[in-house]
Amino acid sequence: MEKVYTFPMAKVLLVDDEPRILLLLQSLLKTNKYEVETARDGNAALDIVRAGGIDIMITDLRMAPMDGMTLFQEVHKLHPSMPVILLTAYASVETAIEAMKQGMFDYLTKPFKVDDILACLARAEEKVKKHESVALSMDIDTPLKYRFENLIGSSPLMTQVCDMIQKVAPTAATVLINGESGTGKEVIAKTIHKNSPRANKPWVAVNCAALPENLLESEMFGHMKGSFTGAYSDKQGLFEVANGGTLFLDEISSMPLLLQGKLLRVLQEREIRRVGGTKNIPVDVRVIAASNTNLEQAVVKGTFRSDLYYRFAVITIDIPPLRERKDDIIPLARHFIRLETPEGSPIPTIAADTAEALMAYSWPGNVRELENAIKHALTFLSEGDITPDLLPPKILQHARAATAAAAPADSATAGNASLKSFLKQKEKEYIEHILVAAGGDKAKAADALKVNLSTLYRKLSDEPKEG
Ligand SMILES: Nc1ncnc2c1ncn2[C@@H]1O[C@H](COP(=O)(O)OP(=O)(O)OP(=O)(O)O)[C@@H](O)[C@H]1O
Ligand SMILES: [Mg+2]
Repeated sequence: MEKVYTFPMAKVLLVDDEPRILLLLQSLLKTNKYEVETARDGNAALDIVRAGGIDIMITDLRMAPMDGMTLFQEVHKLHPSMPVILLTAYASVETAIEAMKQGMFDYLTKPFKVDDILACLARAEEKVKKHESVALSMDIDTPLKYRFENLIGSSPLMTQVCDMIQKVAPTAATVLINGESGTGKEVIAKTIHKNSPRANKPWVAVNCAALPENLLESEMFGHMKGSFTGAYSDKQGLFEVANGGTLFLDEISSMPLLLQGKLLRVLQEREIRRVGGTKNIPVDVRVIAASNTNLEQAVVKGTFRSDLYYRFAVITIDIPPLRERKDDIIPLARHFIRLETPEGSPIPTIAADTAEALMAYSWPGNVRELENAIKHALTFLSEGDITPDLLPPKILQHARAATAAAAPADSATAGNASLKSFLKQKEKEYIEHILVAAGGDKAKAADALKVNLSTLYRKLSDEPKEG
């Protein structure tokens, strides 16, 4: 119970076109408790890196068709902080030095000594850990590629989301953000605003599901005195309030069809007309919309206009549910602990078994549910580590059930799902539990589950259809 969450051993990707060297290095690293993946060429290596979970890469320089230097540059673009170690013949040391200037972590000349490799890896591992802990504190000058205030994302999937934010923020383009409830749609919309040239202009959010049609219209576009009962004076709509800034339209799928038509016209004409008004008022507003249901399906069903959909869908950001980016769980948990801890007080740490429970849970309520779980735990914490018993009972029960490898019905997920999707969800949770227990090693997990690796991949990528 005293232990704090410790980092698992780093996962190392070995890339060499010579099978003999791969085997040799692989067994060396494995005996030193590293997790290892191997690739015979650059493209295969890139696929593995993109799939996520790699902490350190060791690559040979001379390979075909992609040489080690090009591979490094590609990986560096994806994960600027991932240490890459180059293996090179003595004759190519100049290339290696050039690589170091570009951000390569280190190089080793062949033939290499076992001790040198292990020492180099140990240093690389230090860097990985430091990066992780620094990335968690927003107040320190972080070496992160992105420093978005209050947006935590260390998983490869969230890095992709950050890439998108970075690209779209400077533009005035309309953006659609998709994601299950609690995945962070609003934080991301706000991050876009805060990183845009409009950052010092108004940020206005409106929830399209919260108001009946007539009120929503007057809320968005304003109204003239006497235009309906209760309109005692002229009123600016949110489009006017947001002028020069960003308007966030939350739960856009709930917008009534008639209003959708009016919104489309505003986006095209860049002017609004108040309810009961006769004058067009020019507005300069960037619109970001969010949806937690599939808008495409809404278009098919006829509840969402296709022309408006296409206007929004030009730039879409899909935020994956938390259960698909488990690497974010602990960093997010630490972030919330930090936010909740009064200045000057020691920041509580997460006990190892608490971390395990957090990782084993499927988070149907996504980041918001995690945030609430941390608040819950901190409320009951008097001193010391955050132990599992402080977590909300539901999460604790789930962790216990997962540990017992039984998966009894979980009323919260069962309530709104068909038996088939419920079982599928349970199956996925169980697979994820085994995967965590196997330290993320999919081959090991597949072994333990007695299924093919390909079956495991398919089951992991299966989206639950309801929720
Ligand atoms: N990547 C993140 N980093 C830090 N905090 C996050 C992140 N994602 C979500 N949060 C926090 O989780 C909570 C829920 O996020 P948010 O309100 O943006 O979700 P949402 O997708 O808009 O949810 P809903 O569909 O229910 O409106 C907020 O308190 C937010 O600050
Ligand atoms: Mg929201």
